[in-house]
Amino acid sequence: MKKDFLKMTDLTSQELKEVIELAVRIKKNPEKYSKSLSGKTLLMIFAKPSLRTRVSFETGMTKLGGHAIYYDIATSPLGRGETIADTAKCSSRYVDIISARLFEHADIVELAKNSDAPVINMLTNLTHPCQGLADLMTIKEKKGKLEGLKLAYLGDGNNNVTHSLLLGCALSGINISVASPEGMMPDASIVAEAKKLGKVVITHNAGEAAKDADVIVTDTWMSYHIRPEKKEERVKKFRPYQVNSKIMKLAKKDAIFMHCLPAYRDYEVTAEVIDGPQSVVFDEAENRMWTEMALMVALLK
Ligand code: CP
Ligand code: NVA
Repeated sequence: MKKDFLKMTDLTSQELKEVIELAVRIKKNPEKYSKSLSGKTLLMIFAKPSLRTRVSFETGMTKLGGHAIYYDIATSPLGRGETIADTAKCSSRYVDIISARLFEHADIVELAKNSDAPVINMLTNLTHPCQGLADLMTIKEKKGKLEGLKLAYLGDGNNNVTHSLLLGCALSGINISVASPEGMMPDASIVAEAKKLGKVVITHNAGEAAKDADVIVTDTWMSYHIRPEKKEERVKKFRPYQVNSKIMKLAKKDAIFMHCLPAYRDYEVTAEVIDGPQSVVFDEAENRMWTEMALMVALLK
């Protein structure tokens, strides 16, 4: 049966571990995998902007000997009212994997339901599991382990990256604390799912979350789907959750700072932190490619 990757818990904790281990092996010796997906084609449907996701998937597919098609929803019949089901049924007659960056999570579920090819979620408003994979690989690389660590996420809790970290950390034995303001807390069903799997703290207190953390994470306060006129109100709400040197001092001395990027300096994180010695954001961005390569190999196995 084909397998999709729409959220972190589409993998078991064992499968997640295996994908990360494969990513590490591919990173060490990419040449060995240069024909792994030869003759295979990936369709990449985008309804939102992207640098990292687009370039890492396309390059990753090339490195595996396959081919990737960039497909902008604005130039597609889908953008003019063709159904998701018809799009999925036709596309999966041509290609071996379909990936999509969409607004509504229900739309990627619908795409997967109607596709004979595996479907990868390249970000919806609800989740960003490919980012979750890269984040876990980066933490493993920097800390040598995942289990027993403390990760603190500060800022927009009702956010796709937060949701993927909640599930990814819970699957990997990382204790996660999310600190967000009132009204911006993570999705209740994701929190409930994560709490069944691991240790999860949800709080309004940024200092409590950051205290003794091994990893501090934040994300933009203005995700792609947030309307620009919301900016002023959101900045005011999120300001006390900014990651700055005061917050970093509460974490462990050797804590790392992570951000999926794009970042907006002096909003969710100060320049001092993101451009400072504890920041690993560019390794994290690079690991998008290695984990996506491992994921595609695993899904087509
Ligand atoms: N982190 C991430 O998904 O970046 P892009 O929006 O540039 O793809
Ligand atoms: N939360 C952000 C992630 C960008 C990669 C967004 O949805 O825009």
